[in-house]
Formats: sequence, structure tokens, C-alpha cells
Amino acid sequence: MFDDIAGRYDLMNRVMTLGQDQKWRRFVVSCVGDPQCGTTLDLATGTGDIAALMEETYPKAKVLGADFSLNMLKEAKRRFTGRKVSWQACDANSLPFASNSFDAVTFGYLLRNVDDALRVLTEVHRVLKPGGKVVCLDTTPPEKNLFYPFVRFYFRFGIPILGKMIADDEAAYAYLTGSTMDFYSAKELAQLFSTAGFKDVAYKKFMLGTIGVHWGTK
Ligand SMILES: C[S@@+](CC[C@H](N)C(=O)[O-])C[C@H]1O[C@@H](n2cnc3c(N)ncnc32)[C@H](O)[C@@H]1O
Repeated sequence: MFDDIAGRYDLMNRVMTLGQDQKWRRFVVSCVGDPQCGTTLDLATGTGDIAALMEETYPKAKVLGADFSLNMLKEAKRRFTGRKVSWQACDANSLPFASNSFDAVTFGYLLRNVDDALRVLTEVHRVLKPGGKVVCLDTTPPEKNLFYPFVRFYFRFGIPILGKMIADDEAAYAYLTGSTMDFYSAKELAQLFSTAGFKDVAYKKFMLGTIGVHWGTK
């Protein structure tokens, strides 16, 4: 699915989030903090936005962007040609890195897409160095507040229609809606980070509570 939408992925993101998506990625990067000359991994890097922002913001850091979709990686390489980011194909369920390798690990919109989020978080914990930071950006099921009917309507109808018009793939964006509604609440996800072994776990929500950024330390 991600291979199929790679070419239209960025445009769809900008339209669907009313141009807000880069703001959340910048928050992720600021939340990581400057790793100085350390090594950071952006898992599920997709077309590379978080990895590129890390490189731009912390020029001394060594940044690796990794994803299992080769088409997404191809887009990332094309968009950020000449940038000091390395790209690698890998599966988040079984990371091909030694334990205690990275000073920081980021990922945007990964956990909602995997069968076993705890397994992935445990892998991320393994490859982080002690004291290293994880920062995760994902969609969050909307809370039942005043905005709920509007948000529900947008997720149920707006996003799949935009997906059909912009990415010519209604099913992929109907999947986005379904996987968001079925995903952990922000509080439950924070608990999962703790279960995986992370300390000082916290989160912040954006966009009427539909986007969450979680972080923690090994
Ligand atoms: C919605 S995109 C997010 C891309 C990017 N992080 C961003 O901020 O836009 C989700 C990405 O996760 C990748 N992905 C999903 N499951 C994965 C897995 N098990 N291992 C590695 N990458 C995975 C997909 O290929 C896709 O590029």
C-alpha cells in the first residue's frame, strides 16, 4: 500500500492536515533535542521529512532514515538528494542494528500500521543507547468532545474522498481512518511505552486531539 501511494504521499499530507503536518514533525525534532555528533534513526521515514528536518536542525548529527517501502525510500532519496542523510530498507519488527546503537529514534505514523506495537517499541528500546530518547508522532482516536461529530465526519468521508481525488487511492485513506479509530488512545499508548521499558514517558496532542506526540527515555 505504501509503495503505491509514495508519489502522491506528500501532497496528500499537506492538503489533508491543512498544512499543519510539518509543524508536528518540527515538534518531534525539537523534542528529541540536539544529539550533537550522535547517531539518530528515523524509522518508517517514508518520504523522509523527519529525517531531513533532523539533519537540517542538528547538522552535526548522523541521521539514518529507514523504511520497508522501497518506493517511499526512492522518493526520500529524490527529494533530499545531496543532504547528509543515509537511507536504509528495514522492517521495524526486527531491526537490523546492534543493541545500544542510537542516541535517538523517531518515527512518524508507524505504530498504527504494525500488528504488534509493543514488539516494535521493544525493538526500538533495544537499539537505543541508555539515556537515548524516543519520539513518536501518530494519529490518535478523537475524543468524544464538542468537536467529535465534525472530526468523525472528516475522518469517515473527507479523508477517503481527498485520497481518491489526490492520491487516486480511496482504500489507502479509508484504511488511515480505520486504523486511527482502532488505535490506542494517547494514554494507552503512553502506557505501552512504559511497558516496553521507557522512562519519563509523556505526550502532547495536536489538531483537536487527533494527533499525538509521545516521548520517553531508555
Ligand atoms: C504514513 S507513512 C509515514 C512516513 C513518515 N514518517 C511521515 O512522517 O510522513 C508510514 C510509513 O511506515 C512505513 N512502515 C509501515 N510498517 C513498517 C514496518 N514494519 N517497518 C518499516 N517501515 C514500515 C511505511 O512504509 C510508510 O512509509
